[in-house]
Amino acid sequence: MSGRIPESFIQDLLTRTDIVDVIGARLDLKRAGKEYKARSPFTNEKSPSFFVSPAKQMFFCFSSGKTGNAIGFLIEYDRLTFVEAVEELAKRAGVEVQREGGDSAPRLVLDGPLDALAAAERIFRNHLRTHQTAIDYLKKRGVSGDTAKLFGIGYAPDAWDELAKAFPNPEHALAAGLLKKKDDDRAQADTRQKQRIYDVFRNRIMFPIRDTRGRVIGFGGRTLGDDPAKYLNSPETPLFHKGRNLFGLYEAKQSSKAALPYLLVVEGYMDVVMLAQHGIHNAVATLGTATTREHLALLFKSTSRAVFCFDGDRAGRSAASRALEQALPEVNEGRECRFMFLPEGHDPDTLVQEIGAEAFRELVEGAITLSDFLIAEISNDLNLGSLDGRARLVSLARPHLQKLREGPLRILIIEELARITRFGRADFEAMLSGAPNPAAARTESAKTNRRERPEQPGARPIKRALQLLLEKPDMAQRVQHLDQLALVSQPGIAILVEAIEFFQEHPQASSSHLFEQWRETPKGEAIQRISISDLERPDYSKTLNSLINSADAETEFFDCLAELRMKALRARAEALAAQARSGELSSAEMVEWEEITRQLSARSLVG
Ligand code: UTP
Ligand code: MN
Repeated sequence: MSGRIPESFIQDLLTRTDIVDVIGARLDLKRAGKEYKARSPFTNEKSPSFFVSPAKQMFFCFSSGKTGNAIGFLIEYDRLTFVEAVEELAKRAGVEVQREGGDSAPRLVLDGPLDALAAAERIFRNHLRTHQTAIDYLKKRGVSGDTAKLFGIGYAPDAWDELAKAFPNPEHALAAGLLKKKDDDRAQADTRQKQRIYDVFRNRIMFPIRDTRGRVIGFGGRTLGDDPAKYLNSPETPLFHKGRNLFGLYEAKQSSKAALPYLLVVEGYMDVVMLAQHGIHNAVATLGTATTREHLALLFKSTSRAVFCFDGDRAGRSAASRALEQALPEVNEGRECRFMFLPEGHDPDTLVQEIGAEAFRELVEGAITLSDFLIAEISNDLNLGSLDGRARLVSLARPHLQKLREGPLRILIIEELARITRFGRADFEAMLSGAPNPAAARTESAKTNRRERPEQPGARPIKRALQLLLEKPDMAQRVQHLDQLALVSQPGIAILVEAIEFFQEHPQASSSHLFEQWRETPKGEAIQRISISDLERPDYSKTLNSLINSADAETEFFDCLAELRMKALRARAEALAAQARSGELSSAEMVEWEEITRQLSARSLVG
């Protein structure tokens, strides 16, 4: 089926668009050096914290954390869908929206499975109206008609072909995981299953799961019968990934025009639904999986604070520990995670019905901070009165601290741990770096320790190089030895290399083009985070300008690349040396080794 808008059209449209015009038509933009600034249209902050960069063709909103290109702005500000935003920009630019296949049928982008899902949502909702058992069940659980409507809750009847009947051509419903093909012919004897294609969801209350644009991408279904699977979720499809989507996020975002002060992360569909019914509209649920880093990245696109809500029992504690591990690399000064535990025997659904929204909100207020939770986790069961216990805490802390980004939060936690263990900050850090003797560590490895930290995710040279590249994409044209750079075994290197390749292939592109290419992918989220992270300082405008004006940007960029290449070459040289010691070096490898050694000593690495 055709109708998809080609990627190239969107890229071209961005080239024809000036984001300053688009935003200037909607907000009162004031010039501030090379940027334009305004008060945030997404929060109530009084000082101008919203910036538009003509060079990057991007906007940055420091108070809400939103970043994006012209399309992203229209999605956020005009509340358009992606396709509508593209259509709006095309209209401005006076061009017609191109569709793949060239037909001008009114069907919109990505039809097919998405259309099947949208149709299924309507069908399930209609069934709910006419099936009294389903209505009674929801009533019994306290779900009001308005709440059911708000989430688009429906019902899949107890039949094998109720949905299948609605799709004469089942191709897209099959792809969307709504229908299944039976491959066992022997089962044909069973008359109920005579159909070769059958409904996946039967006799279930259906909860539509939407993406951030509001499109239904999957369902969760709760059985009304005695099916051993209480909840059944859509299978993973190219559209639907449990680890990348959250139930209720779209509805939460719709509930308020301003940025959400926090998002409450709960476990179940019914929890989200009943909290909303009690006026707590900012709850989302993971889809029957543990929290992933992608969930966190997604959460932090809509809020700066996530509060995880767990059952007070043992299972809840261990789910909380797992969430903590995922959260460590994602938090920083601007992104906070908190943890709350419910009284045993309750989930948010039953609790909010029992104690009401006000009391529930108070419990949320009492959620403990990530630092407190981390410290409680690692000092649990340790005797901090003994030297042994104190030393043990250091080694327990190490893997956690390695996951945290550099910054005030990490320093605070280290200080707190240093205080608890009474080792003092310097000794504590030295012990963290693995030195057996703190005193020796102070002289020796305190220095190397500092040098080695950039090896962590989001580490300095990679992150900084990306920041600078996003400012001045034309630098990509002068990057050499990209292959050697790709050898660096640090997280994030692939993003840097791919960004350089993208700008090499698209010499006219600005950052907004790369953002578009990576829209709603983990890579896109990573560069969004990176491009805003270094700018997050109180005096916004000054920082933004100084970064762009810096004549040293280029030098710094190539220094970063040189540092990375050095690291890669050193690692390769070591590997070759080890191989040489065991006498297994081929002559080609010998040549390579000599060449690397020469390069390392010459340090003429880039350019
Ligand atoms: P719970 O078993 O705690 O269910 O599962 P619940 O939400 O309290 O359900 P009710 O109140 O009995 O209706 C919590 C979540 O775990 C996932 C679902 O996302 C569910 O909402 N789950 C649970 C599954 O995916 N499959 C299951 O069989 C059970
Ligand atoms: Mn429940």
